[in-house]
Amino acid sequence: MLGHKRSVGILGVGSTLPENIITNRDLETMVDTSSEWIISRTGIRERHIAGPDIATSDLSLTAGRQALERAGIEAQELDLIIVATATPDMPFPSTACIVQAALGANNAAAFDLEAACSGFLYGVAVAEQFISSKTYDTALVIGAETLSKITNWSDRNTCVLFGDGAGACVLGPVSNDRGILSHYLGADGRGKELLQIRGGGSRKPTSIDTVRQKLHYIEMQGAEVYKFAVRIMGEAALKALQRSGLSREDVDFLVPHQANHRIIKAVARRLRLPPEQVIVNVDRCGNMSAASIPVALDEAIIAGRINADDILVLVAFGGGLTWGATVIKWGT
Ligand code: UT7
Repeated sequence: MLGHKRSVGILGVGSTLPENIITNRDLETMVDTSSEWIISRTGIRERHIAGPDIATSDLSLTAGRQALERAGIEAQELDLIIVATATPDMPFPSTACIVQAALGANNAAAFDLEAACSGFLYGVAVAEQFISSKTYDTALVIGAETLSKITNWSDRNTCVLFGDGAGACVLGPVSNDRGILSHYLGADGRGKELLQIRGGGSRKPTSIDTVRQKLHYIEMQGAEVYKFAVRIMGEAALKALQRSGLSREDVDFLVPHQANHRIIKAVARRLRLPPEQVIVNVDRCGNMSAASIPVALDEAIIAGRINADDILVLVAFGGGLTWGATVIKWGT
């Protein structure tokens, strides 16, 4: 079976952040918090927030177009579009279908994937299966969120943490020794209540009552999620490396989910990586859930930090609970 598979890599990356910025100082006027508290506990200084007219598909489209252009792929060539998001434009149609129509990617199958902050890596793993098996040649995987729309701006436990943005990758066949080397995905639904939105689904359909109780907003047990994140990010990264036959000494860059600088530092320590080998944007972007990793990756590429044959470890954790790690040898 292995002989029939082909190597799959990233052909182009794009990203976008909404123009509006909310600083920690702005938040001080909204809830009982301080910039010092936010920086020391999370590393976040500011975050980009989508205006009322901007939905997840709008950010997805901008990032997706950029990724296609950089990959040199026409929208009509796409076989598959996956949008990883916890903040779709609406329950259905999928945000992926909205993006497909706007791109004119008429030959692509399209669906959304929900694995919270791990969604982008889940999406990459799914797309890779289709391409490596030769079912499809080209896929666009987008991680996009407008978390500001589901944030309770009067809850200081959560509103200081999140930001909006989108990142996208075009996946396709690459030369044999490059591309995605391994994945490690996981989930533990026993932790489902640690990070959730209780209202607006089939369990508690939207009603005046659910809105009054603010059940349409993110709720989080931060300290519990923190402990889980520190443990699972390191474990997932090491497991994915083991699956690719590599060790931590081989890693050139860690591209972690950007939830909290203390969590990122703990993972870097576990992999024994110095700060210059860790891609960080949580200070400027906050936690953008599924968008965090592709945006950070795009920024690192634009900054000229990533070179052909570099070994990258992408690692995420999130609501569900879910987690994922992907090892990539960069280049086509
Ligand atoms: O993508 C996955 C999504 N989520 C995460 O990754 C979050 C993971 N968790 C975290 O990043 C951290 O747990 C937080 C940053 C959310 C909180 O940091 P912490 O060091 O775990 O603080 P804590 O939850 O233990 O809270 C300490 C105190 C509490 O006060 P009391 O009860 O000790 O009096 C909170 O009420 O800090 C208080 N607090 C705040 N104070 C000022 C919570 N939020 C704020 C705030 N400003 N914004």
